[in-house]
Amino acid sequence: MDSKYKTGSLINGSSPQKNGPSQDDGHLPKKFRSDDSPHSKGYSNSSINKHRRSLPVFAVKNRLLDEINNSPTIIIIGETGSGKTTQIPQYIHEARLEKAGAIAITQPRRVAAITVALRVATEMGCAVGHTVGYAVRFEDVTRGDTKLKYLTDGMLLREALSDNLLMMYNVIILDEAHERTIHTDVLFGIVKQAQSIRRAKNFKPLKVILMSATMDVDHFSAYFDDAPIVYLQGRQYPVDIMRTTKSHEDYNFAILVTVFQIHREAPPNEDILVFLTGQEEIEAMVFNARLVAKDLMKSAPHLRVLPLYAALAQFQQLEVLRPGLPNTRKLILSTNIAETSITIPGVKYVIDSGMVKLRTHNPMTGMDSLKVQRISKAQAWQRAGRAGREGPGTCYRMYTEEEYNKMAEMTVPEIQRCNLSGVVLQLLAMGVNALSFDFMDKPPTESIMEAMRKLSHLNAILSVNHPELTPLGRQMATFPLDPHYSRVILAAWEMGCVEEVVTLVAVLSGENLRVTVSKRREDAAAAHQKFVSSTGDHITNLNIFRAYNSAAMKKQFCFDNFLNNRNLEYAGGVRSQLLDLCRHSNIPISSCGQDSDCIRKCLIAGLFGNLAQLQREGHYLTVGSNQVVAIHPSSVLFRSKPPLVIYGEVVQTGRCYMRQVSSIDPDWVAQMAPTEFQRKLCLNGAG
Ligand code: CDP
Ligand code: MG
Repeated sequence: MDSKYKTGSLINGSSPQKNGPSQDDGHLPKKFRSDDSPHSKGYSNSSINKHRRSLPVFAVKNRLLDEINNSPTIIIIGETGSGKTTQIPQYIHEARLEKAGAIAITQPRRVAAITVALRVATEMGCAVGHTVGYAVRFEDVTRGDTKLKYLTDGMLLREALSDNLLMMYNVIILDEAHERTIHTDVLFGIVKQAQSIRRAKNFKPLKVILMSATMDVDHFSAYFDDAPIVYLQGRQYPVDIMRTTKSHEDYNFAILVTVFQIHREAPPNEDILVFLTGQEEIEAMVFNARLVAKDLMKSAPHLRVLPLYAALAQFQQLEVLRPGLPNTRKLILSTNIAETSITIPGVKYVIDSGMVKLRTHNPMTGMDSLKVQRISKAQAWQRAGRAGREGPGTCYRMYTEEEYNKMAEMTVPEIQRCNLSGVVLQLLAMGVNALSFDFMDKPPTESIMEAMRKLSHLNAILSVNHPELTPLGRQMATFPLDPHYSRVILAAWEMGCVEEVVTLVAVLSGENLRVTVSKRREDAAAAHQKFVSSTGDHITNLNIFRAYNSAAMKKQFCFDNFLNNRNLEYAGGVRSQLLDLCRHSNIPISSCGQDSDCIRKCLIAGLFGNLAQLQREGHYLTVGSNQVVAIHPSSVLFRSKPPLVIYGEVVQTGRCYMRQVSSIDPDWVAQMAPTEFQRKLCLNGAG
């Protein structure tokens, strides 16, 4: 198509054939037939029925059910789109293998849990929340008699806090196991333990199923006592790989050029999927692509530009899954969420930036950062594969062969690169010391020790050598939050500003409230000015939320003030859930009115590890770890230089930028932070 690209290898249709799948549908014993199910009314929709029967997994339904029946644990490998997530739980339910219990199906992402539950409810002809339901953080759409419960891995882990044998479930499916999220990794150990204790105590048995696209199966099988592996014959057509011949400084521009080249030449029903790194980058490209598309209006088919990322409202995510309109091309700009979690119909072209935004943690400096980095080879192939689900396709890689060769084979599991304080706390709340926990891949001991030190500073445990939960720690574990933020809320209890702090934490758990990408950048800045607090982003966000909350016409208010309605709506939802949790824990909902100082003091109680001090040379150094950091351009403090600031997170894009920044009075540190941190502050010369 373009001399910039070099054609490379093709992905061909064959997948590993160990224990090769039987292609015959076989004849199900009568009791296994789906039309006997009480939901058979739902199956009367013949197009859904046809769709279900056309999925690769349907061909091996019998064998799968046999395997599931015969072994306590099985591993199922199949390409994305083969029907694992939507079909296998239904097969199990049709065969009543869950007996009187329920089937849990975990997903690393909330979007996937929700959309899949909706899809399965449609297929079964029932309303979501009845036989099929979902539970994600801050939203539980299930009832007591829900049989197929799609939930995030984090939610199942929470449930294990109150019952580590997970007695509610007779079948637990850990889906997308290859993603190796921190929660899934912990769940491997938890379900393995629950299974063996239930067996030893003669309780009802627990069936465990691991499902995944591609992964290091032998490693998984060995960990789960040589569990059998079933391969599904995926539907994979050849994908032509095109690579750039020179590396790109700015891949965003190169991607846009490629998008519009395809758009001008390809038939309109062939959709394009672009892999980018995060919401801001995606929104910027959505904006630019729409501008270009408008210019091309007459000379090309209509282009529908659709963003896809985790924080997007549900209806917008569903938009992506809807089949295309006639004479219209879909351009989907997505994070790695579209790698495996979500199957998008109609995609023929994939454009891969080769980058991903990952949370990483440096146990030496104790710093967490969101870092844009190269994907692994496994991810590169997974992304390319998305172009060949319905027919032959093409993948444009925005990186050279040399850059590809330098990529790691597999992504490092999150548990080996992330801050472990949340996990260590949750394990302790279940009575387990992370140091002796049976991890599939043990995180570095130093990371566990560092998490223990953090928990000890937070007063969540007695001491590093005596890691027993304090009453405060026990209370922290009840919040579905990072322990640092649970601590901030508990500090607000003492300080009398629970309402404000809960609102802040709710806002922080979502995405940006302010719309910054717009043709009217200056108007936006002017509109935002009235919310700005000179103390920083936290109080500014609080001002925005308060104004929004009291506005009568919320949508109009957001439009007029360049605010993101859905992010505010999301924050509002999280806020009411957190307030409910507080009431549940007998924490009174106090308010400090206009006194913003006490709110920022509470931040120190949890985020004392995130302080940065202005140096004589004009840059900031983090307290304790001495990393050079700068205030992010999106912060309201960008143009000012307070001597001491507290930040929410560090993003690494070339430089290390602090986000969610507020100024802090050094005297408050003495009042709110553990002594060790006060000493560090003095050493750096401010205190
Ligand atoms: O889990 P796996 O990737 O193997 O496949 P799946 O999520 O069960 O999806 C199987 C098929 O169901 C997809 O190829 C889509 O055609 C369809 N599906 C859908 O239409 N809407 C969804 N929300 C999920 C799946
Ligand atoms: Mg799936």
